Amino acid sequence: MANTKHVKTEIASLTDKQSLNDEGVPVVIVRDESYTAQDCTDDLKDIAKAFPDRRITRDFYRQQGTCPEAAWTGHFGNFPEFLRQAGLEHTRQANKIRLQTARHASVDEMRKITMQRTGLDKVYARENNKRYKTMVAFSDLHDEECDPFYLRMLYDTLRDVQPDVVCMNGDIFDCPEFGKYSTDPREWDVVGRIQKGLDIVAAVRAACPEAQIDFIEGNHEARVVKHLVECSEPIKHLLSGMHDFDIRKLFGLDRYEVNYIANADLHTFTDAQTRKEMVKNHKFYWGCILAHHFPQGRSYGMPGFNGHHHQHIVWSEHNMSFGSYEWHQMGGGHVREAPYCDGTKWNNGYLIAMADAQNKSVCFDYCSVGDTHGIAAGKIYYREEDEFYPALKKELDARKDLR
Ligand SMILES: [Fe+2]
Ligand SMILES: [Fe+2]
Repeated sequence: MANTKHVKTEIASLTDKQSLNDEGVPVVIVRDESYTAQDCTDDLKDIAKAFPDRRITRDFYRQQGTCPEAAWTGHFGNFPEFLRQAGLEHTRQANKIRLQTARHASVDEMRKITMQRTGLDKVYARENNKRYKTMVAFSDLHDEECDPFYLRMLYDTLRDVQPDVVCMNGDIFDCPEFGKYSTDPREWDVVGRIQKGLDIVAAVRAACPEAQIDFIEGNHEARVVKHLVECSEPIKHLLSGMHDFDIRKLFGLDRYEVNYIANADLHTFTDAQTRKEMVKNHKFYWGCILAHHFPQGRSYGMPGFNGHHHQHIVWSEHNMSFGSYEWHQMGGGHVREAPYCDGTKWNNGYLIAMADAQNKSVCFDYCSVGDTHGIAAGKIYYREEDEFYPALKKELDARKDLR
């Protein structure tokens, strides 16, 4: 729709003057002085009003506007300045202040969310006086990318061991939509992914109705929490798909009686500050086990384990406090196709721990989940045909050949 409010019928008077183009390069322009600066900005405002959902570009104004280019360039030099003078775009300084304000406002919101996350670490504590404590720990399942054979083994171990504590050691959820791994927005499945993570938490609770379940926040969960504040498009989608929720509902904390351990302060300004804070997400058990999502946990000098690297490594350590002890870096629990996965180099597994809370000593039993078979707590498992996924086609074919 062309705007006709400021159409001038008289012949424009033209003068040659030098000005700057949009790139800041000096050019000689033909100036049309029959339109005042006010005429031009009024016309531009009318166009903006007539097309409220449209970003007004120079080309768009050429098609829809009334004032000739020679008029507005004469007054404003270039189109961004024309927009600014019409009050349609913030001035550079105002823009800077606006961005800083938004950043601080976001941090204020993050402070609230951080407060909401803390204090959830003991809500569903289940203490006992037993000298020997048992624990099953796992991490890096990454919701939809989780290996079905891994889950079958894990649930079976949980049912058999009935540990005092189940430690979900971070990155149970993934939500790559919020991360650095580029995901085609058309393939986003935030609700499906959160639901898959919740299904896992539900199955863990069903397998161990009496256990204390602790969920240590990994970098992927923290990322989801951060996006709650920024309310990005996928989060808006999530909000519309899961009604009336907060962090406790998002991760099923109340529904499945799960403690959430999140000591990191997420109201940070830079990624480096966030990383520094994230290593605070850990928990000590019985004075002799440290559960830590990140490998930095090993430097605390006590028995324990970390996740995050999706690769099993065990260190035999010794110090005066604990004597000889082990530190385990656990494998993950995801399929090899996972976009962040380094293919065949990474491996899957989880950990059973038994602590003597009196003598402060710990025995670990690492459970390996392989491509075709696995072993956990002395039991052997074979991958069923429907548990093979595309990356294991070769292994599946070899298995068929043996029959
Ligand atoms: Fe991970
Ligand atoms: Fe991680």
